[in-house]
Amino acid sequence: MNDAMPVVEMIKTLSYDHDRLREVGARIIGAIECCNVEVACGDLLEFQLIQDSHFWFQDRLMEAAAYPGMEDHVRCHKRLHTILIAINGVLCSGRYSALTTDLAAFIEQSLAHIKEMDHPFHDFLIEEKSG
Ligand SMILES: [Fe+2]
Repeated sequence: MNDAMPVVEMIKTLSYDHDRLREVGARIIGAIECCNVEVACGDLLEFQLIQDSHFWFQDRLMEAAAYPGMEDHVRCHKRLHTILIAINGVLCSGRYSALTTDLAAFIEQSLAHIKEMDHPFHDFLIEEKSG
């Protein structure tokens, strides 16, 4: 475990990222609904920056804590990262119109990951500290 950072601070940092991902994700969905693809593209870059650093930090924490669910969790991070890179590739090529459904589905999956995989990891960290 990372002794330099108390568990409560780790969870605060992870939760702060989650709040930002929800906020930027909602902006992306709103932009898609308004057919404002250029705004969605800009917000998606912000989403990617947050997500990349968040995944990196969480992967290190899971490794340090010897988290039993790490393998599946890291696999999910890699899958979400791969999807986002593919979406960005399409956006960079200017083929916006075919993309909005994929982009909305990605945001939905990424936010579901927080509830389904990140929250159980937070519970594990808390239990490990109190145990
Ligand atoms: Fe995660």
